[in-house]
Amino acid sequence: MAILIVTTPAFIALRNLRKHYTEGDQQRVIFADLDLDIGRGEFVALLGQSGSGKSTLLNLLGGIDLPDAGQIRISDRLLTALSEVERTRFRRRHIGFVFQFFNLIPTLTVAENLLLPLELNGLAAPDQRERALELLDQVGLGDRRASFPERLSGGEQQRLALARALVHGPWLLLADEPTGNLDAATGERILELLLTLHRQAETTMVMVTHSREVAARADRILMLDNGRIRELNP
Ligand SMILES: Nc1ncnc2c1ncn2[C@@H]1O[C@H](COP(=O)(O)OP(=O)(O)O)[C@@H](O)[C@H]1O
Ligand SMILES: [Mg+2]
Repeated sequence: MAILIVTTPAFIALRNLRKHYTEGDQQRVIFADLDLDIGRGEFVALLGQSGSGKSTLLNLLGGIDLPDAGQIRISDRLLTALSEVERTRFRRRHIGFVFQFFNLIPTLTVAENLLLPLELNGLAAPDQRERALELLDQVGLGDRRASFPERLSGGEQQRLALARALVHGPWLLLADEPTGNLDAATGERILELLLTLHRQAETTMVMVTHSREVAARADRILMLDNGRIRELNP
């Protein structure tokens, strides 16, 4: 009897990625031929030494940067085949970013920072704004709506950044060392919040971290080393 094997295509697929940077007359190859599949809803931790290409990989996944060659597909969208305008639209609509240094807009209030992704996507109808503001309560900033980011502590700024990254219901959340600029206790609370929000939003998440302890909380651990990806046991 023949055995039928049904393979569902991965939610995210990277194929034969090549990426280099040029510095002066030096070429620095970051990825020569990279393949990677990520399943829907997975939480992937990305480890690797400084300079191994972790941020480069996130920028490729998020459509901020393009590879020299190869394909990046997210769901049914082939990112590498989109025009720049289409890629920007895709990124705004379907990707959420969290960075080490929060990247909040200093001239906007907490509520305005939070709602920005909705505004940019034309999703800021009154009921959508109300639901978004509930997310502020959830990250413990409900009473800080009118504050400016500089009035918030580092942990509070990162909680706002988490809420902002998820407010538009992205398919993919990309976090680049999100606890790297926080003390250990605050970082731990941010991580817990991130895990709760990730489960609740059922979003897919790739997080860069230096901590094996943090990585152990992920579904999968990937180690970038010399342009190659190794899978480690969580
Ligand atoms: N825009 C750029 N131009 C030239 N070199 C770059 C650029 N961005 C990153 N690099 C280099 O590429 C390598 C990988 O960088 P990066 O992805 O930021 O590593 P990681 O996030 O793992 O520390 C590093 O050697 C870095 O200096
Ligand atoms: Mg980096």
